[in-house]
Amino acid sequence: MPEFDNFVPQPTADGSFTFFSQEFSESFHSHFGAKQESYFKFVEPTQLAQAALKPFVRLLDICYGLGYNTAAALQTIWAVNPSCHVELIGLELNPAVPQAAIANSLFDHWNYEYTAILTQLAFEQQVQTERLEAKLLIGDARVSIQAVNQSGFLADAIFLDPFSPPQCPHLWTVEFLQQVSVCLQENGLLATYSCAAAVRTALILAGLRIGSTPPVGRRSPGTVAAPNQDTKFSASPPLLIPVSTLLPPLSPAEQEHLLTRAAIPYRDPQLHDSPDVIIMRRQQEQQACLLEPTSRWRKRWLFNTQLRQ
Ligand SMILES: C[S@@+](CC[C@H](N)C(=O)[O-])C[C@H]1O[C@@H](n2cnc3c(N)ncnc32)[C@H](O)[C@@H]1O
Repeated sequence: MPEFDNFVPQPTADGSFTFFSQEFSESFHSHFGAKQESYFKFVEPTQLAQAALKPFVRLLDICYGLGYNTAAALQTIWAVNPSCHVELIGLELNPAVPQAAIANSLFDHWNYEYTAILTQLAFEQQVQTERLEAKLLIGDARVSIQAVNQSGFLADAIFLDPFSPPQCPHLWTVEFLQQVSVCLQENGLLATYSCAAAVRTALILAGLRIGSTPPVGRRSPGTVAAPNQDTKFSASPPLLIPVSTLLPPLSPAEQEHLLTRAAIPYRDPQLHDSPDVIIMRRQQEQQACLLEPTSRWRKRWLFNTQLRQ
């Protein structure tokens, strides 16, 4: 029996399907809508419709999974500019996941035009066409990201979509995100569904500036990040808008969240510790710190239920 038979499609509220991971005890997408999550938490915050006006766009899809974020990105880019050349790198641990998405015809529910591309990427791990150069790097993203860095790849958009920090802390650490931030070109944007204070602090410590993306489906906002250079300007004059001003600001409650114990980030100094070790290291740091307990912050902002995680 092929390994991808282990994944059974589960419906989500927008009619698209997802899987449940027994290994990580978590669903691959929000039950509010897998497809809408790709568009609203990843493709819109990274402004790909705008980036597609350029002759080429580079994408880094971290935790490629079923390929939904890549699928939404390709559709968005080529709807705006059919001749845009896309260079895509996907990072994924388990090749059975994208293969199971294809084997279960999950893109049929999307009415999707580029299923042949996703099929080849899932089963052959690379695709080369006139307007696409795509590679799916199979393995631990902590290792693959170093190869991406060494290749000099600089992304216009990075999708950061691991399982949640408690289930997959090793892909939310300061050290991993430092590696990721090196791959972001100076006008590039990174998006993630997470608004966890530990994730946001790690992004800042990795040299990025952060903003909040609107809640869609899930009750909580996501995060968008850009390289932290005040003097950096949009690539396309005559706009000359500092990239940092394009990020939607954090609310006062979100800003205060970053001053509580929840904001202590995960750390993985050598990029090879187990999840248990990483979680324990953070707990020890939280116990020793003098930051406000997050429960107190939560009580203060109780009326704002959207921020509760
Ligand atoms: C939340 S799902 C991603 C969903 C995906 N972005 C999509 O659009 O379908 C997380 C993915 O991370 C992968 N993963 C888990 N640990 C990983 C690791 N250390 N390196 C790379 N990928 C990993 C899982 O196999 C899973 O496919």
